[in-house]
Amino acid sequence: MNPFEQAEKMLQDIQEATLNSIEEAEQFRIKYIGSKGLLKDLFAAMKDIPNERKKDFGQLVNQIKQSAEAKINEAKQANTGSKKSKSSGEDLTAPGIPYEVGTRHPLSIVKNEMIEIFKRLGFVVEDGPEIEDDWHNFTALNLPENHPARDMQDTFYIDYNANKLLRTHTSSAQIRVMEKQKPPIRIITPGRVYRNETISARAHCTFHQVEGLYIDKDVSFADLKQTLYYFAKEMFGSDNIRMRPSYFPFTEPSAEIDVSCFICDAKGCAVCKHSGWVEIGGCGMVDPAVLTNAGIDTEEYSGFAFGMGIERVTMLKYGINDIRLFFENDKRFLEQFS
Ligand code: PHE
Repeated sequence: MNPFEQAEKMLQDIQEATLNSIEEAEQFRIKYIGSKGLLKDLFAAMKDIPNERKKDFGQLVNQIKQSAEAKINEAKQANTGSKKSKSSGEDLTAPGIPYEVGTRHPLSIVKNEMIEIFKRLGFVVEDGPEIEDDWHNFTALNLPENHPARDMQDTFYIDYNANKLLRTHTSSAQIRVMEKQKPPIRIITPGRVYRNETISARAHCTFHQVEGLYIDKDVSFADLKQTLYYFAKEMFGSDNIRMRPSYFPFTEPSAEIDVSCFICDAKGCAVCKHSGWVEIGGCGMVDPAVLTNAGIDTEEYSGFAFGMGIERVTMLKYGINDIRLFFENDKRFLEQFS
């Protein structure tokens, strides 16, 4: 067979071929127009064709190529189309499956609410690092070197010698703010704190606080009380709180903040240990030694500070009796706060 006859034969074969699947179409493609395919041989034969017939031969080869390509496309279209409608079995009229929408964590809900309440009193939100040094977490806050709270028992040290620890309270952020800001200062710092405590229904090794600090001329304990009354009224709908004399190295005088137990209506339950009161934090007038450490003139300024546990406030607000629930991430628990 001369090249012309070969080409005519190939064209006929191609036109008569039936391709029943994608695989067959691929085999066909490899056979004819693949990089080692028959068409390549035809192109190679071109050089032996007499010049006056080269044009005709070229056209024939092109026609072969186009028919082969058309055949392949046809087979591909027929087969992908039919496959889809065969295997899908989808009912396109069925209603869609709704996406599950997540819910905010109860601690975030209460934290945001606390921020809103204090914002209304003119407090602005500040931030502080969770990895702290001895100065900000202890020394500047008037915690003398051998104070029991500095014991390794309570504090998670990342590196004791390198002076790196996980803050045990948000009070460390007070110092950072006072170091960079001149009074008047009116800030809150919500955030996570860490303590090496045995985990129980009432205590966890990590929890959250909202610290408050107000420094200005003539700030008094009455201002502190009024701020806490306002907070309780807005958060719980009742200002039934009390301040119990206490001690913190960084405040003088100091008090513990107790809220009437809203879980049992102060009748007595496990959360309030049958006392009718639940402690939500500490407060007091900023100790002059702390102001001095932060470079604030104690002749001119005074201030109050408080630190509240967000978990405690949330437990009271929603009647939750086990702090561990906040950290287990059980969807059945979390979904109740949507
Ligand atoms: N930092 C104290 C604690 O974690 C709470 C507190 C803050 C007390 C501010 C007084 C003033 O227990």
